[in-house]
Amino acid sequence: MQPLNLPGPNAKRILERDQAVIAPCYPRIYPFVMDHGRGIEVWDVDNNRFLDFAAGIAVVSTGHSHPQVVQAIKDQADKFLHISSDFYHPKWVELGEKLNQIAPFDEDAVSFMTNSGTESVEAAIKLARYYTGRTAFIGFFGGFHGRTMGAVTFTASKNAYHRGFFPLLNGVYHVPYPDPYRPVLQGLPGEDYGETVARYIEEEILGRILPPDEVAGILVEPIQGEGGYIVPAPGFFPTLRKLCDRYGILLIADEVQSGVGRTGKWWAIQNFGTEPDIICIAKGIASGMPMGAMVARKHIATWPRGSHGNTFGGNPLACAAALATLELIESEYMENAARIGSYALSRLGKMMEDHPTIGVVRGIGLMIGIEFVENRESKKPAEPLRDRIVQLAFERGLLTLGCSKSTIRISPPLCITRKEMDEGLDILEEAITLAEESI
Ligand SMILES: Cc1ncc(COP(=O)(O)O)c(C=O)c1O
Repeated sequence: MQPLNLPGPNAKRILERDQAVIAPCYPRIYPFVMDHGRGIEVWDVDNNRFLDFAAGIAVVSTGHSHPQVVQAIKDQADKFLHISSDFYHPKWVELGEKLNQIAPFDEDAVSFMTNSGTESVEAAIKLARYYTGRTAFIGFFGGFHGRTMGAVTFTASKNAYHRGFFPLLNGVYHVPYPDPYRPVLQGLPGEDYGETVARYIEEEILGRILPPDEVAGILVEPIQGEGGYIVPAPGFFPTLRKLCDRYGILLIADEVQSGVGRTGKWWAIQNFGTEPDIICIAKGIASGMPMGAMVARKHIATWPRGSHGNTFGGNPLACAAALATLELIESEYMENAARIGSYALSRLGKMMEDHPTIGVVRGIGLMIGIEFVENRESKKPAEPLRDRIVQLAFERGLLTLGCSKSTIRISPPLCITRKEMDEGLDILEEAITLAEESI
């Protein structure tokens, strides 16, 4: 395939203007300048077409500008754009009812609406402290939970997120994530690695440095996102749930990236047969409108009137988009995510036979990670190779994003067809071949 000449002239002009006036802190990795999109396809300002396997970091769950979502936003925009969280409106309540219906608890759920993932995490941290009267938390190495002061304290995927920002929140302790490909703890004979991590938390953290009656919650991604699209060892969540129950610690699942149907179930934690106490949501819930929610078991939401709030939470346009999104996901895209996801996993598994730099392919549904290594014995992360593959794929019309040191994430809109998946994987394989040839 002939590579595109990127960035094109129109893109170049925008990049120059951007550099002059937009904050330099954003982690942009290649110069895609969007003009418009439809479903899984996007076009840049020079009319180059791309397939979007990134979905705006797993956000555009129903595809770009799904007509039903756009219509719902337009209908709402004709009525009113904003009223603030000091008042009430029907779509907000309707969304709360829907989230109550699909929350992964055997108990009623109440929702606090937010505008982003980090804000959902902040709400969870605050509620956990309020409800338990305890101050400390446990988070995980490799975790990503956002960039506001509370959430960023838990974020432990790269030190760049912390450099220059200390002091962070007091009382957050990190432990290894149960990554079966890169275990760092020694297990007992016959022990699942997830059980090993839970035992480490209990014996080493709670037993030696952090009395359990000081711990408000454990904040964890059911599948690590930014940390590498890592599916935890199977024994982890059931064992963690029991540990939380033993000590009255809240289990907080950060479903910001993994939730809303992406893994073929509403919530990724449901793949592990575990009910959390709180979930944090954002990204895919409203197909790209800024929207999030913190959904808690009803008995936990003891915080009184005025103790937490925001201006834009429950914004009517965002609620309308979320309701249309959830309807589409429920009626067809959640099932599609499971079907196309398992097809992609099996095709990638076969691809491993021809590409020795692929160390492991992992994922559930349309949350798939491909980790590149220097060789399969050393498992040394092949970061420059991964970066080269992302760039080569971009030049051939495929948008992907990296995560962790050497993983590429596949997180397309949940409406992707098998033909589109094949087209994207063909481009990706060509990029892998070219990058491997240049090692
Ligand atoms: C698991 C997880 N939690 C929280 C966040 C933060 O979300 P936001 O960028 O909307 O604040 C992200 C963002 O990537 C995420 O992946």
